[in-house]
Amino acid sequence: MDIESTEFDFENRIVSTGFTPEDSDVDYSLRPKRLDEYIGQTKVKENLKVYIEAAKKRGEPLDHVLLYGPPGLGKTTLSNIIAAEMGVNIRVTSGPAIEKQGDLAAILTNLNEGDVLFIDEIHRLSRSVEEILYPAMEDYALDIIIGQGPAARSIRIDLPRFTLIGATTRAGQMTTPLRDRFGVVLKLELYTPEELAQIIRRSAGILGVEISDDGAVELARRSRGTPRIANRLLKRVRDFAQVEGDGKINSDVVNFSLDRLEIDALGLDNIDRRMLETIIKFYDGGPVGLETLAATVGEEAITLEDVYEPYLMQIGFLSRTPRGRCVTKLAYQHLGIPMKGGASEQLNFFGEEEPIKKKKN
Ligand SMILES: Nc1ncnc2c1ncn2[C@@H]1O[C@H](COP(=O)(O)OP(=O)(O)O)[C@@H](O)[C@H]1O
Ligand SMILES: [Mg+2]
Repeated sequence: MDIESTEFDFENRIVSTGFTPEDSDVDYSLRPKRLDEYIGQTKVKENLKVYIEAAKKRGEPLDHVLLYGPPGLGKTTLSNIIAAEMGVNIRVTSGPAIEKQGDLAAILTNLNEGDVLFIDEIHRLSRSVEEILYPAMEDYALDIIIGQGPAARSIRIDLPRFTLIGATTRAGQMTTPLRDRFGVVLKLELYTPEELAQIIRRSAGILGVEISDDGAVELARRSRGTPRIANRLLKRVRDFAQVEGDGKINSDVVNFSLDRLEIDALGLDNIDRRMLETIIKFYDGGPVGLETLAATVGEEAITLEDVYEPYLMQIGFLSRTPRGRCVTKLAYQHLGIPMKGGASEQLNFFGEEEPIKKKKN
């Protein structure tokens, strides 16, 4: 492999977990609207059900909720569902969109009693905006400064009682005071192939495309534990089925289509394979530090960590050790690359988790 080939095309990746424009057309229609349509995440759902019912019985807004986990797992979907189940309106914004304290103050003062305020990418709120949020979350109040210099004084405005739902891929990047103000903190996990098959069958039903059980299972296996990818692949496979076949999807059609898209039996694309190969070729399978790896493949460390690693770790191809990332024996086997003598010693580190990083404030 030459060095140039490690410059990957991250932008146009079909198995990207991020939201892409091609998702938007059907995204809305495929999105479950109620809790019992929301597949998987059983623990999260069961807890939420209790909190929602209890809040409704007390006639109070739901406690503030923080949802975290990799992209494409259903955080935005779940936020909308929570609002629907509570029977309230949802106001949607995001961390980077709120630039000034005044922006957030305007949003907060326009809420109605009980409303949900959804802040996506909440870890990207600026510190000064966060400060407005603290009294708002705690006391449903807004502290504003009027005037300047010695004449300046602070007045407190009451806000309607509301529920803040924050979503983030990086709970670790949030400040402790903000995180501590959420009464309910829920972590979304990657989905099992069985759950994804269920999501695919449901989506196929909505799209009006016929899919066999083995087709759904095969597609699920290649969807990287992520509903957003499952839905996107389903749409692509539907195209192949219409153009190359009779419009129906079975496992043959899935295999044929995904081979054409260069997505392998486990859902890895060229970028995954080349990333693993890079670690093998240049770093003898690891350990290699995240920053070094990021520089080698030309992607930000944060993106590698949030978007690429969760799935590779889930299927046991990559492990985190105190000294860096290692490619596992399984990955060597999958890529068909023989392990060198030294590499087997590194297996000793496999399975060891990096100690949870303490947040720096
Ligand atoms: N539990 C689920 N059941 C069914 N479909 C889901 C589920 N979670 C997510 N999806 C689908 O995946 C898509 C992406 O979910 P989204 O909520 O936008 O993810 P996130 O906000 O975490 O990035 C949604 O449009 C929806 O169609
Ligand atoms: Mg989202």
